[in-house]
Amino acid sequence: MNTGIIEVLAFGLVAIIAGFFLLVSMVRELAPNERRKWFLGIGLGTGIIAFSLKIGLIVVFSMFPGPMLALFPEREFDQFPVDDLFKGEALSTGKVAYTWQALPMTAPFPKDNPPSPEKIALGKKLFFDARLSADGSLSCASCHEISVEKGGSDGLPGSIGIHGQQGGRNAPTVLNAAFQQVLFWDGRAASLEEQAKGPLINPIEMGMPSLESVVETVNNIPEYRTAFSQVFTTEQPITIDNIAKAIAAYERTLITPDSPYDRFVKGDRSALSEKQIRGMALFESLGCIQCHSGPNFSGASLFGDNTPYRIFPAIPYTEFEIRHRLSEDLGAAVGTSDSDRGVWRIPSLRNVSRTAPYFHNGSVRTLEEAVRIMAHVQLDKRLSNDRVDDRSIRWSERDRQFNVVTDQAISDTEVEEIVAFLEALDGELPAQY
Ligand code: HEC
Ligand code: HEC
Repeated sequence: MNTGIIEVLAFGLVAIIAGFFLLVSMVRELAPNERRKWFLGIGLGTGIIAFSLKIGLIVVFSMFPGPMLALFPEREFDQFPVDDLFKGEALSTGKVAYTWQALPMTAPFPKDNPPSPEKIALGKKLFFDARLSADGSLSCASCHEISVEKGGSDGLPGSIGIHGQQGGRNAPTVLNAAFQQVLFWDGRAASLEEQAKGPLINPIEMGMPSLESVVETVNNIPEYRTAFSQVFTTEQPITIDNIAKAIAAYERTLITPDSPYDRFVKGDRSALSEKQIRGMALFESLGCIQCHSGPNFSGASLFGDNTPYRIFPAIPYTEFEIRHRLSEDLGAAVGTSDSDRGVWRIPSLRNVSRTAPYFHNGSVRTLEEAVRIMAHVQLDKRLSNDRVDDRSIRWSERDRQFNVVTDQAISDTEVEEIVAFLEALDGELPAQY
């Protein structure tokens, strides 16, 4: 015990004794007879007891953590009304701010393939024509259904080609593919024109024996002969390149620029719900924007100059990788390195709520699960509802400083918020005239 406390206690004791004698003498002085003495004693005594109790209670309450006596409990972050977000400028946090962008209303096109209404109509006809497959059973639209339910895909884990053959990869949507700089899960096609030739002769897709046989088939259909000579005024209008050009011109109309997200970014505050706005902020703070960036939510899009590829799964050997066989197919990594990690083109997330199942092998059924997997295997986030897991605290002995990092875990509520935000990327389907 240090001397300071002893001194205080001694002083207190002396003060109490002195006070007692003072009181006794006051009572004697003021109350000459026995009755008044009693009244005065009781009055002064209760006053002193009440005062001490009050001091005592204040001391006891101040020992509890948190605002025990506060009438209004502290608001949790989650309960902040979204309206607060619309006040003033963005906060300066020292971090480089991410600027959200809307999708352009039209897709860019290569110089040698300008669109025209006739070319687009021709491309559309080819896209829906099953005569372009070996057994006349499949068109591009069989695996890329332009509907709200299928969202430009087929809803299957792996696509089914001619003769019921099962492919190993999921059909990505054709919607907004026009904004991607490389196509296919592994990015092996550099343009829509180049891409369109692939499925025609892929034995487990449309299965035509050769590109020449595709040209021959089209040539044997009189209505195509007229249409091609109207669109392509060269000597030989029906070539495989022109078939691909027409299909690509049609695909460049398959864009969805008017989603609730786009309307929000352009200034319509009511376009997104509070939950969706929270999901949007999380999409940024968790780091999804590192890869799914720009107007098409893909670093592999025509916007910016990001590298289109990423390792997936980046964190090795998680339960998800094993459960969903994520590393059986190595995508673009095949033959390029001896790594056991796959390398994949970053897909767009527009209309993603319509294109289940997910990932290159279609092994994940729900968007919730896909978001959890991404957070865990790409961003190393814990999956936890416990707030304690959300922060990681590191002490640097050298600098004698704390390094506190937040957003280290993703909770079920946060997953739901991100999914709600991703649903805001579903756009109106282009009219099929
Ligand atoms: C049997 C089903 C099937 C048919 C038929 C089919 N596709 Fe696909 N499509 C797929 C699959 C599966 C992939 C992904 C393959 C891969 O990445 O290896 C794909 C990928 C694509 C992509 C790339 C999208 C992106 O984001 O990278 C486009 C564009 C596309 N197809 C257009 C077409 C066109 C045009 C036709 C008709 C000429 C067609 N498809 C016919 C199943 C099909
Ligand atoms: C380091 C890069 C990277 C980060 C960060 C990242 N992703 Fe991905 N994402 C990818 C790649 C690459 C794929 C394609 C994987 C494959 O081959 O299936 C993908 C696929 C997806 C898919 C499936 C798309 C489909 O059509 O099947 C969803 C959904 C998704 N990401 C959402 C997210 C969300 C939400 C976050 C943030 C929590 C996130 N991603 C963070 C690179 C990334």
